[in-house]
Amino acid sequence: MPGGCFRGPAAGDGRLRLARLTLVLLGWVSSSSPTSSASSSTSSASSPVSAVSAQPSLPGHCPPLCECSEAARTVKCVNRNLTEVPADLPPYVRNLFLTGNQLAVLPAGAFARRPPLAELAALNLSGSRLEEVRAGAFEHLPSLRQLDLSHNPLANLSRFAFSGSNASVSAPSPLVELILNHIVPPGDERQNRSFEGMVAAALRAGHALRGLRRLELASNHFLYLPRDVLAQLPALRHLDLRNNSLVSLTYVSLRNLTHLESLHLEDNALKVLHNGTLTELQGLPHVRVFLDNNPWVCDCHMTDMVAWLKDTEVVQGKARLTCAFPEKMRDRVLLQLNSSDLDCDPILPPSLQTSYVFLGIVLALIGAIFLLVLYLNRKGIKKWMHNIRDACRDHMEGYHYRYEINADPRLTNLSSNSDV
Ligand SMILES: *[C@@H]1O[C@H](CO)[C@@H](O)[C@H](O)[C@H]1NC(C)=O
Ligand SMILES: *[C@@H]1O[C@H](CO)[C@@H](O)[C@H](O)[C@H]1NC(C)=O
Ligand SMILES: *[C@@H]1O[C@H](CO)[C@@H](O)[C@H](O)[C@H]1NC(C)=O
Ligand SMILES: *[C@@H]1O[C@H](CO)[C@@H](O)[C@H](O)[C@H]1NC(C)=O
Ligand SMILES: *[C@@H]1O[C@H](CO)[C@@H](O)[C@H](O)[C@H]1NC(C)=O
Ligand SMILES: *[C@@H]1O[C@H](CO)[C@@H](O)[C@H](O)[C@H]1NC(C)=O
Ligand SMILES: *[C@@H]1O[C@H](CO)[C@@H](O)[C@H](O)[C@H]1NC(C)=O
Ligand SMILES: *[C@@H]1O[C@H](CO)[C@@H](O)[C@H](O)[C@H]1NC(C)=O
Ligand SMILES: *[C@@H]1O[C@H](CO)[C@@H](O)[C@H](O)[C@H]1NC(C)=O
Repeated sequence: MPGGCFRGPAAGDGRLRLARLTLVLLGWVSSSSPTSSASSSTSSASSPVSAVSAQPSLPGHCPPLCECSEAARTVKCVNRNLTEVPADLPPYVRNLFLTGNQLAVLPAGAFARRPPLAELAALNLSGSRLEEVRAGAFEHLPSLRQLDLSHNPLANLSRFAFSGSNASVSAPSPLVELILNHIVPPGDERQNRSFEGMVAAALRAGHALRGLRRLELASNHFLYLPRDVLAQLPALRHLDLRNNSLVSLTYVSLRNLTHLESLHLEDNALKVLHNGTLTELQGLPHVRVFLDNNPWVCDCHMTDMVAWLKDTEVVQGKARLTCAFPEKMRDRVLLQLNSSDLDCDPILPPSLQTSYVFLGIVLALIGAIFLLVLYLNRKGIKKWMHNIRDACRDHMEGYHYRYEINADPRLTNLSSNSDV
């Protein structure tokens, strides 16, 4: 019944109806939609639509190179090498697939239409060679719940990509799911900006994503998670950070993610989780954490995490976690370790600071003893100094004398004559 909105009045002129029928047959022949063909033959009871005649594109018209199904509210423009978003998207569209194209740039208001695409709820731009997403690219999409930008080399993601282009007015975004897997550009296109910082700025801007429930950031070579990126996403339920290069979670705060249900950290470079992180995880009421395939380092710093693992129900598949380092501990199961296994190499003391302090004390003692010896022996030293001075004086006088003799030409002549 909602499809009927876009049909013209039954008593329209014949040429228009013929044209519309041809378009319907041409455009929809690929989408096997039973209701569309049925309604085109029997459309009579429908609300009057006025905008039909003047526009070159009829409402419900399908853009070239796309497949449209009004029944499924779906438009697919897939693997078509499109270089821009089609201008004449049908207003009924709820699911829009623009995957496998060559969009390169998504300008501000790329989907802003008049009237707006008020129904558009799911937008898939995966694999469309997007390099730049500008401020306000998704503006005027009041129902957009799911956005997939995966597999695009996003070298330039605007800070205001998900909020408005007008930074001062940040209305909350309607987004509930944001999928940003594998959006890291090749190294040479990244210039010297921090990719993590760029993504974090977009997630944070204007506190616009406060309704976001699912965030996927897998396979992005993330080395760290910017400190406050999660602070602006209070509604988050699912966070996917799989297949990155995270080394530590020490500086990330999870405390405020009270709704978090799943946290995927598989295939990262985590070495150990420290007390602070463990406490925060334990404080989240619904969370399940996935930690497989990280290179856990089983030394004395692992003691707290092993003790926690034995107690907690938070970690899924905790029995699968194994040590990667040091060599003697490789492939040992974390859960089966006890504290006597977890030592730090005695050659490298755990806290170098202690040994430096010790070294300093020893040096100070040696210095003090040396000074004491000098003090006690001061008379001897004085005598010794006098001796040295006298010796020097004698030596200098002898030298002086010889120099004067050599400098006197008569004496020189005398000596040379005597040689003859
Ligand atoms: C898209 O471009 C690629 C190479 O640039 C080509 O192989 C492919 O056939 C094109 N696809 C379409 C639908 O034009
Ligand atoms: C978007 O399209 C890609 C390619 O077809 C697909 O793999 C992916 O699952 C889609 N995303 C969503 C959220 O459905
Ligand atoms: C990113 O895009 C903005 C706006 O188009 C531009 O001003 C800026 O120079 C671009 N930055 C990079 C690093 O390409
Ligand atoms: C941003 O919004 C404010 C308040 O609505 C308005 O005064 C300002 O002109 C807008 N700026 C732009 C660039 O649209
Ligand atoms: C990149 O580094 C150069 C110098 O190292 C600096 O002048 C430039 O501002 C940096 N560019 C960015 C985008 O940070
Ligand atoms: C992991 O990430 C790398 C680099 O982003 C990617 O090439 C690889 O396909 C990803 N692996 C999986 C299993 O997704
Ligand atoms: C957590 O939320 C409280 C109150 O909502 C806020 O004061 C605090 O700064 C937040 N902490 C973090 C780390 O975001
Ligand atoms: C971590 O917490 C446990 C239990 O609260 C405590 O016994 C341990 O000393 C803490 N470890 C560190 C390094 O603070
Ligand atoms: C710790 O492990 C060693 C050998 O792996 C074992 O002999 C010892 O009984 C264990 N201690 C505890 C308290 O389980």
